[in-house]
Amino acid sequence: MKRQYEQEIALLKRRLNRETKARKLAERMLDDYSQQAFLANETLRKAVATVEEKQLEIEFFVKSTEESTSAESHLTLVESLLELCATFTDASYAACFLSKDGNLTSTPTIIRNKENRVSQLDVTNVLPLSTTHLLSAWCIQEFIPSNNGREPSWLVYCNFHYAENVDGWLVMLIDSELIDEEKLHALDAHIAQLRHSLDKLNNDKLRKLEMKVIDDLKGQLSTARKQLVVTDRMASLGVLASGVAHEINNPLAFISANNKYLKRALVPAIEGLKKLVVALDGSVFAKLVESNHLLKLEETIIEVLQDNTEGIDRLSKISDSLRTFVHSSVDEHTVIDLNKVVKDVLKVAAFSKKYTKDVSVQTLESPALVNANSREIEQVLLNIVINALHATENHGDVSMAVKDENYAFSIEVKDSGIGIPKENLEKIFSPFYTTKGVGEGTGLGLAISKSIIDAHDGVLKVESTENVGTCFSILLPKASEKQNMGVIQ
Ligand SMILES: Nc1ncnc2c1ncn2[C@@H]1O[C@H](COP(=O)(O)OP(=O)(O)OP(=O)(O)O)[C@@H](O)[C@H]1O
Ligand SMILES: [Mg+2]
Repeated sequence: MKRQYEQEIALLKRRLNRETKARKLAERMLDDYSQQAFLANETLRKAVATVEEKQLEIEFFVKSTEESTSAESHLTLVESLLELCATFTDASYAACFLSKDGNLTSTPTIIRNKENRVSQLDVTNVLPLSTTHLLSAWCIQEFIPSNNGREPSWLVYCNFHYAENVDGWLVMLIDSELIDEEKLHALDAHIAQLRHSLDKLNNDKLRKLEMKVIDDLKGQLSTARKQLVVTDRMASLGVLASGVAHEINNPLAFISANNKYLKRALVPAIEGLKKLVVALDGSVFAKLVESNHLLKLEETIIEVLQDNTEGIDRLSKISDSLRTFVHSSVDEHTVIDLNKVVKDVLKVAAFSKKYTKDVSVQTLESPALVNANSREIEQVLLNIVINALHATENHGDVSMAVKDENYAFSIEVKDSGIGIPKENLEKIFSPFYTTKGVGEGTGLGLAISKSIIDAHDGVLKVESTENVGTCFSILLPKASEKQNMGVIQ
């Protein structure tokens, strides 16, 4: 029995030993596990913190990209990106400045200044405003605000090109524990983004400007094309006119010669007939001559010949005008005084029996000297004055004035006559455009005037309102000092 107990005790002891060992092993293992679990937990916590930080960073980048692409002006872009930087770094002070040639150019925009810790002067004294190049990254330096004795913080700043010759500065004050290398890297990426966006905005502005210039050029091109079409038409008309003038001249010459010959031959023939009738008075021949009114034919034929001569004169004038229109030469230029031209033309206009109206004249006290062909300028002025007199036949007055217009002298012919309807204003310089009755106008006057003034490097302008009046201005460049020496009085 005792032996049996002893055996059981030994068995129990062995089991106890085994279980003690097993418990110790389990305890060690538990220790290991809990240590590993702790470490794993720690790593996880750190990872979560990093992820949170990265998330903040990503959010910061996303927002900054959004701001950069949507900003419409430089200032809103800079301010909104600075706001983001300040939030990201939890800065206690954030401001942006603009500088030109090393000096501040505008009042700084302060985005935040907790407890008014920083004065503008403190900051601007620190910034290297005279730097002409872009800082390669954000600069960081210890900073103790002068107006309170707080712990030192970090002043973080960077610059960028804001516009032509204008630099911009972003400045933040960040407490020591809130800034680390990671954040500074993120801020660097951010400033790169800001610089890129500003370049884009500047380029957009430049592009808009270029587009405007291109639009202007397109406008000028289309005007030039239109003018080219008109010039081309005028040139072909010129060729045509020259041909017509030439063709008209030859028959005109022999019609005129024949006319003269007929006149010359007819008078003695009739005289002879008259003598014959007297000599053969009462004869059948004399009765025949009388009954057919042959002797009265003289008057009729002379009248017809007179009409022919007038017609031939008119045709010659038209032919001459056409030739002037084609060959409005700039030869025979001399220095002339427009005051004198105006007075001379007025005398000639007075000869025109048709128009008895007085034309008021205003000349300059000093000579209005231009380098021109006086005959041609007189021709232009005469046509314009006669047009004005014609337009005021029923009502209205005509006035002329010589004016000094900086680089040019002008002659203004103003009338308060019938005026020109808007839709006809473009047509009046076209050859053969006339509203005058048959025999009253050829419609060549203004076309010739324009080609003459163009050939003088001048300008012929017109302003008109129907039923109110018309104003023509002839502008001619002033004669240079050198040319004035040879002035013809
Ligand atoms: N001062 C004016 N007031 C109103 N209409 C005018 C005036 N000047 C010109 N015009 C208009 O312009 C047209 C063209 O003028 P332009 O001098 O070229 O020819 P014209 O006077 O008709 O003939 P001409 O060849 O004999 O000069 C005129 O017929 C007239 O309709
Ligand atoms: Mg005319």
